[in-house]
Amino acid sequence: MTHLAYESAGSGDDIVVLVHGFPFTSAMWRAQLDALATDGRRIIAPDLPGFGGTPGSAASMDEYADAIAGLLDGLGAARVVLAGFSMGGYVAFAFARRHAGRLRGLILVDTKAGADGEEARAGRYAMIERARAEGKGVVVDAMLPRLVSDATLNGRPDVVQAVLDVAGGATLDGIVGALTAMAARPDSAPDFRGINVPSLVIVGKEDALTPVTDAEAMAAGLADAQLVVIPEAGHATTFEQPAAVTAAIDTWLRALADW
Ligand code: MLT
Repeated sequence: MTHLAYESAGSGDDIVVLVHGFPFTSAMWRAQLDALATDGRRIIAPDLPGFGGTPGSAASMDEYADAIAGLLDGLGAARVVLAGFSMGGYVAFAFARRHAGRLRGLILVDTKAGADGEEARAGRYAMIERARAEGKGVVVDAMLPRLVSDATLNGRPDVVQAVLDVAGGATLDGIVGALTAMAARPDSAPDFRGINVPSLVIVGKEDALTPVTDAEAMAAGLADAQLVVIPEAGHATTFEQPAAVTAAIDTWLRALADW
């Protein structure tokens, strides 16, 4: 079992786990970590294998999900609210399939339920070859124009730099494993009927990677879901509009009665 490094803030029995996207690390949740750690909440942001402080790699969403369950075992956390950004959302769906009884709620940020189509899958494998040949930097270079909105890309160099800095915390092995895992992930929409906890769906209005239409489809398909669209943000909402993401999560958490 892989032991995950993690950041933690606050203390209490109400535990919220923030799962990062690709090719990021727990640092993508820096703004949320402290801001959400109020009112008896403990916020945990793990690094998946090959990202940030966790060595190694994993090549399936199930492995990532089981590593998070192992982390929760170690922390003595029975039920948690699980938040996943983009690839972290794919991990959250795998967690919901494999560890449903441990879920108190689901927060899906700039993510989607569907599997890769043939073209997207081929693109992942091509990217693995390029990363092996040219170095891991090609991955974020190729993704950057679609990670943030055009306004951010052209007018907010500090935000772009923060995205690049956090993306620099992934290893080549971690990146190859995650691309393999994303290419192989199943369609999670058929699992919606088994998800019996409240969900919050958050999406940047200009998200080019997992657009608003995907978020709307998740919110419509999940039994008890709320949708929040964040203006003036692309895919990387926690970098582009951190306060708005925090506010959306905080408001929704306050409405959850018993953990
Ligand atoms: C992410 O932000 O985690 C990735 O862009 C998701 C993906 O490539 O499907």
